[in-house]
Amino acid sequence: MYPDFLVVENVESEFVVDSGDPKLLERITELLIQGERIFLSGAAGTGKTWLVKQIARQIAEKEKVVYVTASTGIAASLLFDEIGLRQSFFIKGPSTLHSAAMLPWSSEKDHTRLIEKGKSRLAGTDVIIIDEISILDSETFERFLKRLPVYPGILVVGDLFQLPPVARDKKNRPNFVFRSKAFNDFRLVELQKNYRQAEADFIIFLENLRHGQNQPDFYLRISSEFDHNHPTLFGTRREAGFKNSLEFSKLSTKSYTSKCKVKVGDPEKAIEWFENYTRALHTCQLKEGMRVLCIQNHDELVNGDLGTIISISGKEREGNNPDRVKIEFDRNRIGTREMGPYEFKKEVQDGYSTKVKFSVEQFPIVPAYGLTVHKAQGMTLDICNLDGRKISFAAGQVYVAVSRCKTKTGLRIHNANMFQAFTRKSVEEYYANANRLRLSL
Ligand SMILES: Nc1ncnc2c1ncn2[C@@H]1O[C@H](COP(=O)(O)OP(=O)(O)O)[C@@H](O)[C@H]1O
Ligand SMILES: [Mg+2]
Repeated sequence: MYPDFLVVENVESEFVVDSGDPKLLERITELLIQGERIFLSGAAGTGKTWLVKQIARQIAEKEKVVYVTASTGIAASLLFDEIGLRQSFFIKGPSTLHSAAMLPWSSEKDHTRLIEKGKSRLAGTDVIIIDEISILDSETFERFLKRLPVYPGILVVGDLFQLPPVARDKKNRPNFVFRSKAFNDFRLVELQKNYRQAEADFIIFLENLRHGQNQPDFYLRISSEFDHNHPTLFGTRREAGFKNSLEFSKLSTKSYTSKCKVKVGDPEKAIEWFENYTRALHTCQLKEGMRVLCIQNHDELVNGDLGTIISISGKEREGNNPDRVKIEFDRNRIGTREMGPYEFKKEVQDGYSTKVKFSVEQFPIVPAYGLTVHKAQGMTLDICNLDGRKISFAAGQVYVAVSRCKTKTGLRIHNANMFQAFTRKSVEEYYANANRLRLSL
């Protein structure tokens, strides 16, 4: 059996640590402002990212500066939301940790010049938040710590049972963040109430899967009928790209090409930023009838909204750079929206005001037929197709894939017998021995 993961003292055993608990929000915010180091964890869908947005807003309301970051550009883009995280003077980001702290990739050397630049970027920050910490390797984490301002509060967020860092040690094991000695200073708070899934048997199944238990009987209740109007998740980018091309080619409507346009900044650097830090495409192929995924919170649309292109205008340019795309979104409240290219902006602080460093225009949509599990980590999907042959090579990968879906009926699975969920022993050990934060809620 698993160790008891409860963090709360002096409460009845049925107490559940809930991301929606206002006292939890208040306590964590207070501790961070005092300079605490906290690791906010919990299974997929327990509201970690949701809570991060509330915490950032609370800190800003108390007129303290909070820098909101994530380990990958995709995870950072999921931190933008309707509550206006970007509008406050006290909130920096959301951005990747790499750009916030001027970190080199772990395969590259660190330099004094970069360290100094990183320090000056983080200077004046009271609290730093890093989401999707499971993907961050210990070396990069330590480089980040070298750039810290004086005693900031730090909140690292994520689930170590999800995708591990890409960086490996000499024995080819993922270089987990908890290998860093400094990680011992971070006290663990684990959220326990699942907000993404509501079905009790699905939640129990997922919790076991999280611990690497394959439960073949569960899949007998899952449909094997793929719904190609909704995303299929793959282990590799190649497979996801192939699926997108395949479904695109099946559409008999006219093909349009939208190339991104640089509006502000050095074109080469702006495009490099755009390709690395947004989920939008440099060249986006569009057709009427195509299923697309919205990748930006914008005009009531949220990141992850699915829809179908119903018309494309700008035909006089022979299929290049259309002006407007009309999309019928699946979510009733949204309905049909017409959109032009969206301005993806990189803003930097310039004294008391913000300055636009790069601005690149592109439609905020990507084809929705194939996605990688890596890209999907953090997302919530209504319907999702999975193939057991394509997803099993990394620890946590099966768990991340299956846990994206809200319901059992939304799941569509082929080759379930080939799913091989597994975990790393070191992750189990980390949670079993972690230094837990005692909170009286
Ligand atoms: N306290 C909450 N109240 C309402 N909705 C929530 C709450 N916590 C999470 N959610 C919703 O549940 C889903 C999963 O939350 P998310 O923050 O993405 O989980 P995690 O980051 O832990 O995987 C999202 O759709 C989110 O908006
Ligand atoms: Mg999340």
